[in-house]
Amino acid sequence: MIHNFLNVYCVLREYILFLMYAISSCKSIPQVSFECINFSFWNQASEVRLTSSQVALLKVSRTLHCKMKCFSVSWKTFIKHSGIELNLALINIKQLVTVPARGKRVKTGAEMRDLGVLENAAVIIEKDTITWIGRMEELSMGSLKESDVLDCIDKVVMPGFVDPHTHLLFAGSREDEFAMRNAGATYKEIADSGGGILSTVADVRDATKRDLKKFARRHLNAMMRHGTLTVEIKSGYGLDIETEIKMLETISELNEEEVISIAGTFLGAHAVPPEYRDRKREYVHEITERMIPYIGTKGLANFCDVFCDDGFFTVSESREMLLQGKRFGLSPKIHADELSASGGAELAAEVGAVSADHLEHVSDNGIAALAKAGVVATLLPGVSFVLNHGYAPARKLIDAGVPVAISTDFNPGSCMSYSMPMMMTIACTQMHMTPEEAITASTLNAAAAIQQSDETGSIEVGKKADIILLDLPNYKHLPYHFGENHVVKVVKNGVVLEF
Ligand code: NIG
Ligand code: FE
Repeated sequence: MIHNFLNVYCVLREYILFLMYAISSCKSIPQVSFECINFSFWNQASEVRLTSSQVALLKVSRTLHCKMKCFSVSWKTFIKHSGIELNLALINIKQLVTVPARGKRVKTGAEMRDLGVLENAAVIIEKDTITWIGRMEELSMGSLKESDVLDCIDKVVMPGFVDPHTHLLFAGSREDEFAMRNAGATYKEIADSGGGILSTVADVRDATKRDLKKFARRHLNAMMRHGTLTVEIKSGYGLDIETEIKMLETISELNEEEVISIAGTFLGAHAVPPEYRDRKREYVHEITERMIPYIGTKGLANFCDVFCDDGFFTVSESREMLLQGKRFGLSPKIHADELSASGGAELAAEVGAVSADHLEHVSDNGIAALAKAGVVATLLPGVSFVLNHGYAPARKLIDAGVPVAISTDFNPGSCMSYSMPMMMTIACTQMHMTPEEAITASTLNAAAAIQQSDETGSIEVGKKADIILLDLPNYKHLPYHFGENHVVKVVKNGVVLEF
């Protein structure tokens, strides 16, 4: 009883201190409601030794951020202003999976099976950066001074997942299509009858930024609980300049406000909007002459993507838009060869795309072109699982030397799942990837698919501390023991987060 009272007292005291700090250092005053506070986290966090009251305050505030859906203070802003130097040591790690890049941007062929596994290991993090990795017996106790210690006994520790292809920002849902498809309707038939992408476009045009953020936050928090610490999000449910900008601004604000790291992609060429139904040429012109120049100049996105496929945009239209994107600083990405072998992979190689995504129907020529140009093939096992339209030839791609990544493609139509481990299971059982390849494809190669493998995707000295703890006997259980979330804690930018 007294213990509980003390817990509540400590949390409230720290919370009030934090509010005072936040009000004095942030422009916006936090919108918080006390019903949202979950007091139980104080006990859960007790294994982390706190070195000062400042660190205690920081930890409480960071944990609160994840606990409270209505919390509106920017965590990144808080860290930036806090000036707190926080070191963290992960000790007694049963199995450490490092996925070493060994100085490369991406892994290909047999390198994808090299996970750099260490047993009984430790990792030292200074602020947000990994500074030491080794076995427990090599760890000097002196290096633990001034560190918070996280005991990882019986845990597998590995890099946080990177999900490099999602359509996470949307409104509404399309569960009826799911049932229609299972009864025999095809993806294209649903799209042609005004459903599919265009029905989400109508919902997103009607939604405010605030609505979009509310839905997105729910998904982003769930993603982090499933171990994804970096995600790419596309626009493409606006298809007019105002709504595309609204989506990209929302994505970039979420990147500032949320703990998860977000890369933004402009996908104006996701479909032809209804008002341009018989005037596709004019819509392409609108993209190249109005949308790309505005978005590129304002720095609203990192990448420009196109849906290059039958019934959507041709190779020559896609080339025109991607080259214009490049002129305005947007690196190219392509939804390629999903519905048929339409030349998307070849175009990706030609324009030097960062990634070619989907590739369910990629041709042998396309595979050779991707290998030669070093384009990352981002495969989307969940889409094939849901649409039942065949799987990308992962084995052929890996054996040909194409760097392969895996992603969820999380979207309301073709894959309503943000579980990277589930994608790994499908990649292993249906696409014949090995567990080691599936792990590399979800971490280092996935980071390369969004040009972030220099800072995340592996546990190596000098990289950002984006790390997850799994309650599993060894990494091979990750794709094998499917349908359950094994992530027990995540470390994002060197900060331990409780859920
Ligand atoms: O990657 N292929 C095109 N676009 C998405 C689907 C988006 C949707 O159906 O809303 C995809 O699968
Ligand atoms: Fe997609």
